[in-house]
Amino acid sequence: MLPNVLQTSASDHVPVLADEVRELLAVVPGETVVDATFGAGGHSAMLAADLGGEGKLIAIDRDPSVRTYFDRFKASAGVSARLLRGEFSIVLNQLAANDVRADAILLDLGVSSMQLDRPERGFSYAADAPLDMRMDAAAELSARELVNGADERELTLIFRRYGEERYAKQIARSIVRRRVTHPFERTSELVDTVKQAIPTPARFGDGHPAKRVFQALRIAVNDELGALEAALPAAVRMLRPGGRLAVISFHSLEDRIVKQYVREQAHGCTCPPDFPICVCGNEPTLRDITRRPVRPSAREVESNPRSSSAKLRVAVKV
Ligand SMILES: C[S@@+](CC[C@H](N)C(=O)[O-])C[C@H]1O[C@@H](n2cnc3c(N)ncnc32)[C@H](O)[C@@H]1O
Repeated sequence: MLPNVLQTSASDHVPVLADEVRELLAVVPGETVVDATFGAGGHSAMLAADLGGEGKLIAIDRDPSVRTYFDRFKASAGVSARLLRGEFSIVLNQLAANDVRADAILLDLGVSSMQLDRPERGFSYAADAPLDMRMDAAAELSARELVNGADERELTLIFRRYGEERYAKQIARSIVRRRVTHPFERTSELVDTVKQAIPTPARFGDGHPAKRVFQALRIAVNDELGALEAALPAAVRMLRPGGRLAVISFHSLEDRIVKQYVREQAHGCTCPPDFPICVCGNEPTLRDITRRPVRPSAREVESNPRSSSAKLRVAVKV
């Protein structure tokens, strides 16, 4: 069960796989915890409670709007807490370079319910809003720039790679054709264009027809996969021996990166498999403690449908 410190309002983000994260990160008093994706602070509140009044919690988020949640969290955290605003791979690298060490690091990837549910952020295909999708509103690239500026080939690649969208090429072509006379400003314009570009039966298939295009643009706008790839080694550098790293991912592209990284680090040796003996001398840096990803229970999915695609992997620094 979650402790009472987790008092969320109806519109707040509900932390995913909270009991599982808590059990596997196994935080004890006196430790330093890094929540690299603070959001509404649900996981932080739970981990801070496990610090039992002793220790430190470092919160990171690139979205300045989490400040209100952090202030609320800090008031009742009972431990020393600070918020570092920025992209987590950069902040983790800076902390590691400054010899800040951690015992537990959590990355709960993607966007929060507050980001998704605020129409003005432009993340949702379900509400008409400016086409934005930046987690950090000060970042240069927005979905509007990408949709109006990228060429057909680049858009096709984005939709195919990050959205696994079957009709990537047709959608990209329709976007490029339309924007000559009507540059895209709003989410509804993109939704209409996607609907018109795909065959009629596909409009009634697997979920909302623009779901995959919106996911792909969000990943590209925020360079989500690049940030994850850069964050994992930085997190491992920050961990003390015995320190735990937990990553919650929400789609196969993210999970693949985490799985592969943990597997490589748990293996150590990078010699080609046909070498009779190891010549690289690389030692394992991680021990994988979740060979299969941990998934939410049916009960959790029922009470929080956004958890349905979540996968948790945890590794320990050796
Ligand atoms: C799924 S939410 C985390 C929710 C949080 N665990 C909670 O319990 O409320 C992800 C958060 O991470 C932030 N985020 C995502 N990618 C980031 C990155 N590369 N750098 C920093 N923050 C990031 C988002 O702005 C968002 O607030």
